[in-house]
Amino acid sequence: MLIRRLPQHERSAYAAHLKRLSPDDRHLRFTRAGVSDEWIDHHVANIPEDGLILVGTLRDRVIAAAHVAFDSDSAVAEVGISVDVEHRSGGLGSELFNQAVVFARNRRAEKLYTLCLSDNRGMVALARRAGMEIEFSQGEAEAHLPLPPPDPLSVSQEMSSGLFAVFRDWAELFDRYGALVNGAAPPGRAKG
Ligand SMILES: CC(C)(COP(=O)(O)OP(=O)(O)OC[C@H]1O[C@@H](n2cnc3c(N)ncnc32)[C@H](O)[C@@H]1OP(=O)(O)O)[C@@H](O)C(=O)NCCC(=O)NCCS
Repeated sequence: MLIRRLPQHERSAYAAHLKRLSPDDRHLRFTRAGVSDEWIDHHVANIPEDGLILVGTLRDRVIAAAHVAFDSDSAVAEVGISVDVEHRSGGLGSELFNQAVVFARNRRAEKLYTLCLSDNRGMVALARRAGMEIEFSQGEAEAHLPLPPPDPLSVSQEMSSGLFAVFRDWAELFDRYGALVNGAAPPGRAKG
């Protein structure tokens, strides 16, 4: 499993991940009922070009994601997390959350914010474990985490996650096309 920043041209994979969420999970993720596939397409299309989406991928499939959205003066970073149902409760949501903290710190956000339904036990547990302060009101839970300024460790954490992704991509390309050097057919093309 690899966690990396999703480039804009791969946003459809993020939309596909969100569309795999059940109606109840869509409600939990977006704190609104009746989230349709069309709504998801519109939501993803409206994420700014430089928007920050971190994804967990397994064999090139997006199985988990964290979207970090900054307010107008970038002081507050709002994070929304989702994990494919078959990959939950293994720490993936927390891992994405921790990476989101690093990315938000490095962009000088002063606070991380997340909104979820009060009965979202998974997200509330995750937020508590991350040390967030949680306020419950009218069926919703608002969680806040003050962020320290970036430091050499937070910058190197972001750089190393990016480098790891680049190395992994190179290794995968080499696996796929290295055989060509020996005269084998490229993947997906019939021999002869
Ligand atoms: C919330 C969500 C992202 C958590 O992902 P995850 O990969 O399961 O997260 P983690 O494994 O890191 O941790 C989740 C915590 O919730 C707990 N948990 C999970 N499901 C739970 C449930 N139904 N009841 C109580 N606790 C639950 C886990 O035990 C864990 O707590 P712990 O570390 O103290 O044991 C995932 O459940 C999800 O995608 N839900 C639908 C979308 C959503 O609600 N997003 C959050 C709103 S932004």
